[in-house]
Amino acid sequence: MRKHGVIVAGVMSGTSADGIDVALVRMAEPGDQQSGGAPGIRVLAHASYPYSTSVRHMVLAAMNAPSASVADLARLNSLLGELYADAVLSTQKRFRVKAELVGCHGQTLYHQGEERPFLGRKVSTTWQTGEPALIAARVGVPVVSDFRPADMAAGGKGAPLVPYLDYLWFRDERIGRIVQNIGGIANLTAIPASARAKDVIAFDTGPGNMVIDAVTQELFGKAFDRDGKIASSGRVLDSLVDQILKRRFFLAKPPKTAGREEFGREFVREFVREFVRESKGSRKQDIIATATFLTARSISDSVARFILHVSPTSRKSGEKWGTPVRRRFREIILSGGGARNAALVAMLAEQLAPLGIVVRFADEFGLPSEAKEAVAFAVLAYETWNHRPSNMPSATGAKRPAVLGKISYV
Ligand SMILES: Nc1ncnc2c1ncn2[C@@H]1O[C@H](COP(=O)(O)OP(=O)(O)O)[C@@H](O)[C@H]1O
Ligand SMILES: [Mg+2]
Repeated sequence: MRKHGVIVAGVMSGTSADGIDVALVRMAEPGDQQSGGAPGIRVLAHASYPYSTSVRHMVLAAMNAPSASVADLARLNSLLGELYADAVLSTQKRFRVKAELVGCHGQTLYHQGEERPFLGRKVSTTWQTGEPALIAARVGVPVVSDFRPADMAAGGKGAPLVPYLDYLWFRDERIGRIVQNIGGIANLTAIPASARAKDVIAFDTGPGNMVIDAVTQELFGKAFDRDGKIASSGRVLDSLVDQILKRRFFLAKPPKTAGREEFGREFVREFVREFVRESKGSRKQDIIATATFLTARSISDSVARFILHVSPTSRKSGEKWGTPVRRRFREIILSGGGARNAALVAMLAEQLAPLGIVVRFADEFGLPSEAKEAVAFAVLAYETWNHRPSNMPSATGAKRPAVLGKISYV
């Protein structure tokens, strides 16, 4: 191992289908001189590359299996491989840093973390697309990809995988922290004060930007509600949010995962229909505000119910403050595109204040908010390259640690 560590490019494209995030990360072995949020991990640079409108539409269509042809799915695999390679090469050029290894998550087309009957057997499955052999050929270094199946083969749900980084980066001896990523789907990692890896709880809390994006597209013809401006001008229909939060997904105990299968097109159609039925004379911006509040409340309810173990409805009483069960949770650390939605962040801060939890941002800890997941896949790739396991069985439900991913050589 070289003295100054290995430079790894992490590549992520999430369920929002907004584009590609790249992070260039320096990984050092113990004993190397390092600075940064977690021992041995340093983010050197990061960049985002939005998908063109036509690519975004193709990706969204591919996630909606009945309308996608096999030929298009196969071609999309190659196209995304090329786009990932472009993204890594551009980032290297821009920052004059050359990666020695790439970790590429790929674009999820389908994820079913639980076993279900299929042709007389029970199967779970996950499918990330974006051809790693093309990335390896064009960037000229090995690529680790397809991280999820090994965890599933070990009995896990294949998700979430980012808690591995959250634990390394945000663990604190005195403060319990909730690390909340708000991508298309929102997911949290709860790290109690002085936690061991097995104490970490992680799960999807529900929609992140997915529902907000869909209604903003439908009603305002925009891809997303920039800075939460539209939501800020609308009024929330509380009763609808209360009603939705009684659904099975929100009440189910973690571990649990969600995707477009839960909060995609059909959910949004029903959400709008229910809104129109319940609210007479409401305006379009009220629907955006209500979708935004749904994300905020589903996060704060998850924190209350599953992390602090207080009832979401009685949380204002504060009876249980300071009890050991809370493991001194004081901070929620936001990342992902949703952290830039000011209306959402304000709602979340208001919901969490009575629980004694303050909102902070991953950037404050030296981890760029939009690039956190890309950083995570650089770190996971590095572990795999070194034959080390990097799933978190407490988060995925796997029966054992597993070395994640497959390697494409040049
Ligand atoms: N300035 C902004 N204001 C409001 N929302 C934003 C902003 N920037 C990004 N977003 C939201 O973040 C989403 C992308 O977040 P990201 O973390 O990349 O999610 P994913 O991991 O699902 O791709 C966008 O679709 C949009 O909803
Ligand atoms: Mg994204």
